[in-house]
Amino acid sequence: MNPSNENELTLAVLERLEGATDPRFAQIMASLIKHLHAFLRDVDLKPDEWMNGIQFLTAVGQACTDKRQEFILLSDTLGASMMVVMLDQARALAQGRTGAKATEATEATVQGPYYWEGAPEQPLGANIAEGVAGEPTFYSGRITDTSGKPLQGALLDIWSGDGEGNYDMQIEGAEMAARARIRTDEQGRYWYWSIQPSYYPVPVDGPVGRMLGGMGRHPNRPGHIHMMVSAPGHVPVTTHLFVANSPYIDSDAVFGVRPSLIVDYEKHPAGKAPDGRVMDQPYWSAHYDFCLAPRQA
Ligand code: BEZ
Ligand code: FE
Repeated sequence: MNPSNENELTLAVLERLEGATDPRFAQIMASLIKHLHAFLRDVDLKPDEWMNGIQFLTAVGQACTDKRQEFILLSDTLGASMMVVMLDQARALAQGRTGAKATEATEATVQGPYYWEGAPEQPLGANIAEGVAGEPTFYSGRITDTSGKPLQGALLDIWSGDGEGNYDMQIEGAEMAARARIRTDEQGRYWYWSIQPSYYPVPVDGPVGRMLGGMGRHPNRPGHIHMMVSAPGHVPVTTHLFVANSPYIDSDAVFGVRPSLIVDYEKHPAGKAPDGRVMDQPYWSAHYDFCLAPRQA
């Protein structure tokens, strides 16, 4: 059938999916075509605007290198990454749901581009940010399952920028900093020292930065520390802890803040810290209990 109007055009494109052999691929493409056509009609897109869009997507692709993923940044800043994270966690938890729970699993958020596999294993109580700019912070809490049972040997794979908003990875040739893998003790407890991370901007020197500018948006993420939390037999979670009083806590450029992940950082004068370390300068503490859902057998 050759279409003679806009409605028939959409139907004609959808009909060409008849030969698709992968039903999931066909479902995704059918929905994409329907929404794309609806969008074009909704805004009544003009040819020069269509060309601007093509040039924008071309520039996004051209900005990608082995170190930079401008398409993921585009997805992040449009809330698409966070939507996929939310859908994925809801699906994983629904599949693993086994009955009444004392607590909900810790909420997930975006991974971002600065994860570096192979951070050093450090003992409980270690300072994982030795020599890193920023105010010292004592992090502690427990990792349990959703019934409240402590998870011994659960893994926290931690990374953050420094107290000035910079990640080690952003400096060519830099070594790992403010990263570590730490395991819980027999009571599911963890504690370590790092810094209080600062807010920082996502990269704005490419087409996504220009898009944000055009939308009148700032590019900043509130201060946060990333972690992947895992334990055998449990659904792992990739998440952050957010600094409660950080600038941009209510307007994260990538929509990653979830109220359950906002933590009060408490200020302490110099002196003896909770782990017995004697601090010769004021320091902060941040306490957070993580909770993992058991995997369905
Ligand atoms: C981050 O938190 O590291 C991040 C997340 C999304 C885009 C840029 C940075
Ligand atoms: Fe980050």
